[in-house]
Amino acid sequence: MKRKVTKAIFPVAGLGTRFLPATKSIPKEIMTLVDRPLIQYAIEEARAAGIREFIFVTSRGKSALEDYFDSNPILEAELRRKGKTDLLESLRATNMESGAIAYIRQQKAMGLGHAVWCARRLIHDEPFAVILPDDVIAAEKPCLKQMVEAYAETGGNMVAAMEVPQEKTSAYGVLDVAEDMGSMVSVKAMVEKPEPSVAPSNLAVIGRYILTPSVLRSISRTKQGAGGEIQLTDAIADQIGTKEGVYGFRFRGQRFDCGSKAGFLQATVAFGLAREDLREEFSQFLEEMISVKKAAQ
Ligand code: G1P
Repeated sequence: MKRKVTKAIFPVAGLGTRFLPATKSIPKEIMTLVDRPLIQYAIEEARAAGIREFIFVTSRGKSALEDYFDSNPILEAELRRKGKTDLLESLRATNMESGAIAYIRQQKAMGLGHAVWCARRLIHDEPFAVILPDDVIAAEKPCLKQMVEAYAETGGNMVAAMEVPQEKTSAYGVLDVAEDMGSMVSVKAMVEKPEPSVAPSNLAVIGRYILTPSVLRSISRTKQGAGGEIQLTDAIADQIGTKEGVYGFRFRGQRFDCGSKAGFLQATVAFGLAREDLREEFSQFLEEMISVKKAAQ
């Protein structure tokens, strides 16, 4: 019987240099999309998929993340005193059950694979999810939930996948497909950040994974790969040909690369427009901006 996926690892140790100077003093995962930090979107997606234990792999300078998921009795008492129940309610999503959240430090920036490996003692012998909070996915059914449901059918190791423009392959892990079954593909090879001319396809890995514990053993054997880092892609590729195998899952939804400025801005517009309380005013503003721009051309 396939085990249920109840643990998720959130690698949040990166320096976020692409967002300097903002990230000089705040973790990039605390950067705000409308009114919630990136990390909260990731946590909510995990919760919706049945995750009960949240493992953060952090680094120096990330204490704002720990505070965010802690209770804030003074703020809460003040809001209660003022009868601000809607704001109190908005804080509820940031409350974590005691013991449900764990923080592990990655002392050296040695890559995504190494970050996941840092959490190995909390995973033991069960399948687990990995969520990269930079990849924000707007979907009717949250992406990880779609994957957990597919995993219940197939088992194995599963990575979220999406077609990207061929010229962008060097920003992603890329799949070499053995068999294309529509939403699911079986994988015969995976390459981290290949140049477009040598990429096996344009089907890219997006930051959602369901992995078997044997991937953790593979990481221990994985040598430095692309960029001189211990790559999660290489460790997952090590599972190809095993009983469990590796699958790509074409999720339904729109993915935003919030690790880039352009992607973050696009997400801000999309999530702003999706909010009922903002839609009218915001879309009117956007229309005006566009017509001003057109008139100037
Ligand atoms: C990471 C992974 C890569 C994946 C990407 C998705 O790369 O290493 O395989 O395609 O996330 O966002 P990063 O963006 O951290 O360089």
